[in-house]
Amino acid sequence: MKALIIERNGEPSDVVHWRDLPEPTPAPAQVRVKMLLAPVHPSDLHVIRGRFARQRQPSLPASPGSEGVGVIDAVGSDVPRTRLGERVVLLDVPGTWREMVISPADRAIRVPAEISDEDAAQALINPMTAWAMTMCEHQLESGDWLVQSAAGSTVGRLVLQIAKAQGFRTINLVRREAQVAEIQALGGDVVLCTADEHWPEQLKRATSDNGIVSAIDCVAGRTGAVLARQLAMNGRLLVYGALSSHRQSDPAAFEMPIFAPALVYSAAEVRGWFIFSWLASKGVTESSQTLRNLLDRMAEGTLKPPPAQRYRFDRAYEAFAAVESAARDTKPLLAFG
Ligand SMILES: NC(=O)c1ccc[n+]([C@@H]2O[C@H](COP(=O)([O-])OP(=O)(O)OC[C@H]3O[C@@H](n4cnc5c(N)ncnc54)[C@H](OP(=O)(O)O)[C@@H]3O)[C@@H](O)[C@H]2O)c1
Repeated sequence: MKALIIERNGEPSDVVHWRDLPEPTPAPAQVRVKMLLAPVHPSDLHVIRGRFARQRQPSLPASPGSEGVGVIDAVGSDVPRTRLGERVVLLDVPGTWREMVISPADRAIRVPAEISDEDAAQALINPMTAWAMTMCEHQLESGDWLVQSAAGSTVGRLVLQIAKAQGFRTINLVRREAQVAEIQALGGDVVLCTADEHWPEQLKRATSDNGIVSAIDCVAGRTGAVLARQLAMNGRLLVYGALSSHRQSDPAAFEMPIFAPALVYSAAEVRGWFIFSWLASKGVTESSQTLRNLLDRMAEGTLKPPPAQRYRFDRAYEAFAAVESAARDTKPLLAFG
């Protein structure tokens, strides 16, 4: 079988190569998944460059890839043979950029027939991030307000879909004026553009001067600092990204100064959020239930990942370039088989 492999960290176009490997055999509680599609996320490129969370850097050589969809084509002796032929997504089984992936049987989650391969391939990282932060961490209820930055991002748009379905309201930050109308059309209740220097005062007014109760931020830098400073009494900000530094190459842009008195007097909380830590804290049973719930929502059409563009896996370099192009509006997927 063919696999995309890195033997050292570096620029993706220099260090990712495909190799022929022996076909793997599943152990008793495992299944073998013949991969159909696996996305290329910006975080996969961080892994390849050796800049991702230390605990998520694989020992090399390894295949990159953090999620994907495929079909079970072999099962271990403890797994019912009825699972053969089942179309599944993988629940935190790293190394998906290969024709065959070995997975614990309980981490291969059946995909409802209504969901396309393209949508299924993206079911885990971004939908789970949007759902877990809003519904599990902030526990938003109908009528509650959420402030989010980078509302035009994939996660931001999924949050807007969840808001519509669950009835919570959103104050959205975007960095380009042209995106304001687009986010309003997607259901954003308030949309502010951070290119307008008065956005912090506009944000204050949007919360009726009561401060922010619940927020999520993936920009950090000044944007995150303003959100932290405007937290309400016991307000909570989850920081889940740092887009202020393109390609993580400008460490200074990661700084997010906290105005201590605002935090202290409000007994407010600023906390980091990372999907893989969250999945680990929930365990396989609860995480797989959450993933099934997301798949059901995708099947009924209330949750929809972005449109995708397929790239044959031996043209992965084109997918890497697409991920980093400024004009990207589709999710690059590597196609196997
Ligand atoms: N912590 C976790 O577990 C977790 C999980 C999933 C995602 N993430 C993170 O969440 C973030 C969003 O991911 P995604 O896949 O949804 O992103 P995406 O679809 O690639 O979208 C990126 C968006 O961010 C905006 N943006 C880029 N740089 C910005 C900046 N300096 N200031 C303000 N906005 C900026 C872009 O705006 P334009 O349209 O103007 O270019 C675009 O709307 C990333 O940082 C990702 O690593 C974290």
